[in-house]
Amino acid sequence: MRMTDNTILITGGTSGIGLELAQQFIALGNDVIVVGRNPARLDALRVSHPKLHVLRGDVGDPRSVAALYEQVAGAFPDLNVLVNSAGIMRKIDLQRPDFDLADVTREVEANLNGTIWMDVQFLAHLKQKQNAAIVNVSSGLAFVPMPIAPVYCATKAAIHAFTLSLRVQLRNTPVKVFELAPPGTDTPLFHGEFAADDGGGIKPMAVDVLARHAIDGMRRDVLEIRPGLANVLKLGSRIAPNFMLAQTSRSVDAMHGNAGSRRA
Ligand SMILES: NC(=O)c1ccc[n+]([C@@H]2O[C@H](COP(=O)([O-])OP(=O)(O)OC[C@H]3O[C@@H](n4cnc5c(N)ncnc54)[C@H](OP(=O)(O)O)[C@@H]3O)[C@@H](O)[C@H]2O)c1
Repeated sequence: MRMTDNTILITGGTSGIGLELAQQFIALGNDVIVVGRNPARLDALRVSHPKLHVLRGDVGDPRSVAALYEQVAGAFPDLNVLVNSAGIMRKIDLQRPDFDLADVTREVEANLNGTIWMDVQFLAHLKQKQNAAIVNVSSGLAFVPMPIAPVYCATKAAIHAFTLSLRVQLRNTPVKVFELAPPGTDTPLFHGEFAADDGGGIKPMAVDVLARHAIDGMRRDVLEIRPGLANVLKLGSRIAPNFMLAQTSRSVDAMHGNAGSRRA
């Protein structure tokens, strides 16, 4: 697809992959709107990145998604690309005795429902545009879960499945449907709740490199963009699924404080 002269909305564009994509899109001559929740972060971005349009919104709340649509469609009628990068990732021990059930599925609201709500809410608008696209950000962990982040990985597998269906349903429209499945990438999310060896000690991809892969893939109409280890995870999930799961499972023992005594 053409990668200049677009108007691009990026949820989660206030940090990490979304913010890096925003900056690279601007450098290519696109107009970019970013969305996030944290007001202090939004205010700081308005000062540090004056070319960005910065809006507050919570994709995990359907009323906020509807309000965001009204605001964006009014102020940016040329919007033709939606990137769903908003997401959270948490380490969850499913054996913990003290669960708050609503809290345990928080990632479903932000990652999965948020992506679906944004896609559905903006679809009628995007269908009227030339060079229109939706980019859903999943993960290499959509293909092989990392069991210490069970709900996160379930949302990413679901985003992958949803994106396949969305692409088929939109094949009679001008809207291209991309999936960006990043590998571990050097952002606040990667470091957040996780110890250095939780991901098997892998070295994360630099975020600027990841964003360049994403933009290059979009330019070449690669509909499922799987840079670096994300591609290994997808291929490995087909060829040697048990072996791949064993690699991503090692950190469970450390989470349970019994490293070296794995039962299965
Ligand atoms: N980094 C990795 O290793 C990696 C690997 C594979 C996939 N991914 C995926 O890439 C995407 C971006 O991750 P990242 O690494 O860039 O993380 P990040 O630096 O933590 O950025 C996450 C962004 O999402 C926003 N956000 C979170 N919940 C939101 C909500 N309910 N509504 C609106 N905005 C929300 C955050 O802003 P506020 O908190 O202010 O709302 C922030 O801008 C995520 O979907 C993640 O799952 C990341």
